[in-house]
Amino acid sequence: MTKLNHLGIIVDGNGRWAKERGLSRSEGHKAGAEALKNIILYLSREKLVKFLSLYVFSTENFGRPAEEVNYLMDLFLKWFTTVKKEYRKENIKIYFSGRKEYLKPNIVKAMDTLEEETKNNTGLVVNFCLGYGGRAEIVDATKKIVKKVQNNEITIDDIDEKLFAKNLYHELPDVDFLIRTSGENRISNFMLWQISYAEFYIPKVYFPDFDIKELDKALLEYENRDRRFGKVK
Ligand code: IPE
Ligand code: IPE
Ligand code: MG
Repeated sequence: MTKLNHLGIIVDGNGRWAKERGLSRSEGHKAGAEALKNIILYLSREKLVKFLSLYVFSTENFGRPAEEVNYLMDLFLKWFTTVKKEYRKENIKIYFSGRKEYLKPNIVKAMDTLEEETKNNTGLVVNFCLGYGGRAEIVDATKKIVKKVQNNEITIDDIDEKLFAKNLYHELPDVDFLIRTSGENRISNFMLWQISYAEFYIPKVYFPDFDIKELDKALLEYENRDRRFGKVK
């Protein structure tokens, strides 16, 4: 059995799910959030993975209509302020990745509180990529590293892949398996550094319909993948 340490999910298809039902895009996002909450709890309780990275809002998504952006931010705010107790009980540790300076102070505060209150938990690590861009993360890591060189904390020769990875938003292992729902065959700027050798899985199903059964199907598929990492077996 292939070990799945870090699962990445690009949450996609909320809008089309809603449109098919004659609902508003907001209702699609609401349904998507419910599906996502179930998946987090399932993965945590069954101990199926150690790290879970969720792409829930990209830097590019700020270009959507204000009404949609505001709805999503309210949804996140409610989510992050109401799950503290539950995630503490479930031993879930929360990380956020992204540019917090793009977000409103009230949501940043809720995010900081949730990270702080779950920081000593030792179970599933859930990394929410919010206001996140893969290129932005690489640029931000580069700036951190340059500052360390300028401050004589490190030299240019110290810079290697390991050091670079340590300067990303969080010290996370590479993504092993990447699920993108709704059938879109693209990365859309998700964890560009960490997905170098990830296995891709792109079901047609829209995210609000991505339930435990769909997830189990995906995880089974991963077990049958032959990962070679450029080598010969
Ligand atoms: C994913 O669903 C959620 C976010 C990107 C925030 P979409 O909103 O992208 O749904 P579609 O792709 O329009 O169906
Ligand atoms: C990617 O989905 C971003 C998130 C899932 C948060 P999008 O729906 O924004 O991506 P594109 O526009 O289809 O590439
Ligand atoms: Mg989309």
